[in-house]
Amino acid sequence: MNLLHISDMHFGPRHWQGSSELLLEKLNSYATDIVINTGDITTDALGMEFEAAGKFLSLIDCQHIVSIPGNHDKRNMRSAEYFNQYIDNVEVIRPLDREKCSKKNIFLDDNVNGIKEHFTDINFLKNIVIDGVSFLVVCLDSSELYEDNGLVDSEMLRTVSRAIDKASYDQIILLNHHPILDTDSDPLFNSRTVIQFVIKHNIEYFFCGHSHQLSMMRSTDLYHKHSFTQYKNGSLSSVNTPDDTNMFLYFENFGSAEMIIHVVRAIVENESLKFRVEIIIPK
Ligand SMILES: [Fe+2]
Repeated sequence: MNLLHISDMHFGPRHWQGSSELLLEKLNSYATDIVINTGDITTDALGMEFEAAGKFLSLIDCQHIVSIPGNHDKRNMRSAEYFNQYIDNVEVIRPLDREKCSKKNIFLDDNVNGIKEHFTDINFLKNIVIDGVSFLVVCLDSSELYEDNGLVDSEMLRTVSRAIDKASYDQIILLNHHPILDTDSDPLFNSRTVIQFVIKHNIEYFFCGHSHQLSMMRSTDLYHKHSFTQYKNGSLSSVNTPDDTNMFLYFENFGSAEMIIHVVRAIVENESLKFRVEIIIPK
């Protein structure tokens, strides 16, 4: 199974001036079973930004594309509506007990005019079968409306946990916009809670973006005897990012002993794009 990881496209004013066509050509040159997209799809969560991003995603040659929102995608009270309209019409998981939700603006005032979707958190599961192996992709929403810091709602985590317990799968991976092992000036406040969730469900692979800087880190919890790897991608196409951190990751033979990771950096050069590929063999 081959996995392609993209993040932080930032359609809108922070999107680069590089060629989408050349980038798509490069992305489509990799044989991919599942694409994962870990958020900041837009810059200001405007409808036109979601629409442009949706068009770009639809041109990626892969049947299974899983996208989650980032903090930039939640700068608009219509975020959930636009995400479902332009990115993916996902089956959002609703909290077991609405009263126990503590994230700010997780429910918008029902009197807000014209908002179809008043529940703003986008957590969901996707079960994708590749060559007879079922992959459960767990998608958490670590962003809060109008904030850049991260927060995963504890009641939502409990609800998602219940849904995972009921699911059957061979392999499980977790997508979250904010990292949990390293961070930047806009951190995920309750990363410890998410780490407990990772341990509980014996998740080995965690994918994120947010800081626009590549890191691949493996944690070992000596007490719980659990290890997991965090893959934090750079940006795919942000103008606010130095050229060498615009990139995507391609995991050949994902999760197997033969896994090879391709770090593909994209550098804008006049009208063209230059790609620099590094191969990482995890030990
Ligand atoms: Fe970003």
